[in-house]
Amino acid sequence: MSDPVLSLTNVSKRYGDFTAVNAINLSIPRGSVYGFLGPNGAGKTTTIRMILDIIRPDEGEIQVLGASSAMHVRERIGYLPEEKGLYKKMKVWAIIAYFATLKGMHRREAKTRAYELLEKYGLKDFANSSVESLSKGMGQKVQVLSSIAHNPELVILDEPFSGLDPVNQEVLEQLIRDLKENGQTVIFSTHIMQHAERLCERLLLITQGRKVFDGTVDEARAIIPRRVILECTNDISTLAQIEGVLSVQELPIGNDGRLHGTRQWELYVKEQTDPQQILQYCFQNRINLSRFDFTQASLHDVFMHLVGPEAREHNFR
Ligand SMILES: Nc1ncnc2c1ncn2[C@@H]1O[C@H](COP(=O)(O)OP(=O)(O)OP(=O)(O)O)[C@@H](O)[C@H]1O
Ligand SMILES: [Mg+2]
Repeated sequence: MSDPVLSLTNVSKRYGDFTAVNAINLSIPRGSVYGFLGPNGAGKTTTIRMILDIIRPDEGEIQVLGASSAMHVRERIGYLPEEKGLYKKMKVWAIIAYFATLKGMHRREAKTRAYELLEKYGLKDFANSSVESLSKGMGQKVQVLSSIAHNPELVILDEPFSGLDPVNQEVLEQLIRDLKENGQTVIFSTHIMQHAERLCERLLLITQGRKVFDGTVDEARAIIPRRVILECTNDISTLAQIEGVLSVQELPIGNDGRLHGTRQWELYVKEQTDPQQILQYCFQNRINLSRFDFTQASLHDVFMHLVGPEAREHNFR
């Protein structure tokens, strides 16, 4: 494996006696799309600001693109801050070009690049508008384009999806895929699990400054049991004997038009459990299923499991 684009070793940040980021270790492979997830106040922005050397860690080391400070490699990094905003009086194309020149691109090339990006991501008609005439979401898209115009190797986007409508969220997802295809590494923070689920190869989950998970989306899903819903007319509580089945519980039936006598069961099974085993058991025991839903845990479920109110009570106080 190639050298990581970014590594954090035991990084902590304190404000007075409050620890905002607590001994985080992390290594981000080149060319990956990496999600930073965690509830409000978890420490995502603080971590990102330390990566960019906007603020200094109290402890630990950060290596970015082989350098000990992002300041030494700033032309190779693109950054969308959490607090969004652009110079209001400038024209849209000019501001994108301006940011690209700040990061070392020649003016003529930067102008061409600005128009190219605006065309590609659906903002061509606004090229000559002033930034202040844009809606909030469109302004944010322009700011994202400003942060990537100079073709940085490492792109760090703090909450890039917040405030975008569904169509523009989709455009931004495509933009991130395009960056990846181009070999660039992307880190973004979000509260919206679906974006992370669709885009990320790996993710970091933090809460109250601590890392609670770091790995692939599949590894995250494997943390919590899968839920299976079955419907039939039998008592299937004996399914609990099957290896890998953690629990079997009958659910109360609502008045939703199911055939008389149908019973609904909820199973929790280990992530690795093969659904065929359950089906086979039902077949052998002449259980006639009218429903079999074997769903994968969503990232949202994992998130709630690891950082939801119950997890917090157990783990973090
Ligand atoms: N300059 C500061 N002084 C004091 N406390 C701070 C400062 N900056 C951040 N914090 C605290 O550190 C914690 C982490 O904040 P941070 O902004 O990193 O969270 P976050 O994960 O980005 O949250 P959000 O999802 O709301 O953006 C919070 O409790 C915050 O109040
Ligand atoms: Mg934040």
